[in-house]
Amino acid sequence: MRILAIETSCDETAAAVVEDGIKVLSNVIGTSVDLHAKTGGVVPEVAAREHIRQISPIVDQAMEDAKVGFDQIDAIAVTHAPGLVASLLIGVNTAQALAFIYKKPLIPMHHVSGHIYANFLEREESIRFPIVVLTVSGGHNDLILMKGHHDFQLLGESLDDAAGEAFDKVARLLDIGFPGGPIIAKTAEKGDPKAFKFTQARLAGKDRYSFSFSGLKTAVRNIVQKLENANEKTIADIAASFQFAVADELSDKLVAASREFGAVEAHLAGGVSANQLLRKLTAEKLNGEIPLVFPKKLIYCTDNAAMLASAAYFLIQKRPEVLKTDWRKVEVFSQLALK
Ligand code: KG4
Ligand code: ZN
Repeated sequence: MRILAIETSCDETAAAVVEDGIKVLSNVIGTSVDLHAKTGGVVPEVAAREHIRQISPIVDQAMEDAKVGFDQIDAIAVTHAPGLVASLLIGVNTAQALAFIYKKPLIPMHHVSGHIYANFLEREESIRFPIVVLTVSGGHNDLILMKGHHDFQLLGESLDDAAGEAFDKVARLLDIGFPGGPIIAKTAEKGDPKAFKFTQARLAGKDRYSFSFSGLKTAVRNIVQKLENANEKTIADIAASFQFAVADELSDKLVAASREFGAVEAHLAGGVSANQLLRKLTAEKLNGEIPLVFPKKLIYCTDNAAMLASAAYFLIQKRPEVLKTDWRKVEVFSQLALK
């Protein structure tokens, strides 16, 4: 089964064709990140206008790269939530129009389910459950127990800033650019992760698998404000110490939950899963007892459409009736939410 998927929830305009949820035939991503770098963050109006400009050529390119025509496409999947509403609408409307013209089933997907399924793209091994997945991106931080395909139990979530958002905000405080994740990682290479000691937010009971990074962000702001003259070494030390604090908290919780719930695999997904320190710390703490899985390519960590095609394929396998869903009925867009 071949699925064309469209993703426009934030500042990436993306389209992909994936076969049987695993084989990526094409994966085209256009981004307006350079425009947002000037403002130090995504401006929703600017992102939406860029989606309008890019969506048609990107869908055409995805079809061309996959070397398929619409007669070889079985369904169209699209991110319907969560995200910037004007950006989402452009993807959803495009997918609706294509589904209408080519008479294809339309499958609205939750963005985070896409990030979860990014780990199945190009997978060769068979899939076994339970899996504990940590999805960490700019907008979301979710710790999820996956008991089967599309059988998600939310164990914890971000109580304030998501990890990626914290990376972006700290990069702005340090005035080193946008998006913060890759820039902080690069800056941290020359820094000492032990130069500043940040304390983890104390969360217990029902919140023990949730995350809080706003205190950490404030701690960084206090340090930056007190700096007399910020030289390159101090900036690198702050970046390294901050990155270590985030990676330490994220990996602690993924590892603890994987042990508690008897996971056969621990998964990292979302933009922040591109972070090498996070991968290294998690692997060290898992100590070879539970295999660690992260996306096979860096472009599968950040927003892309191939991951949505995979999520849609496995949803269809589990609930074939979604193929018969009438996309004109508004309820379908809330029915398939992750939680
Ligand atoms: O998943 P994603 O592309 O978009 C959302 O769904 O939000 O994630 C984007 C986030 C940004 O906040 C970016 O700073 C972060 O992922 N990110 C990273 C790295 N690469 C991207 N964070 C830490 N280390 C990285 N190498
Ligand atoms: Zn995302």
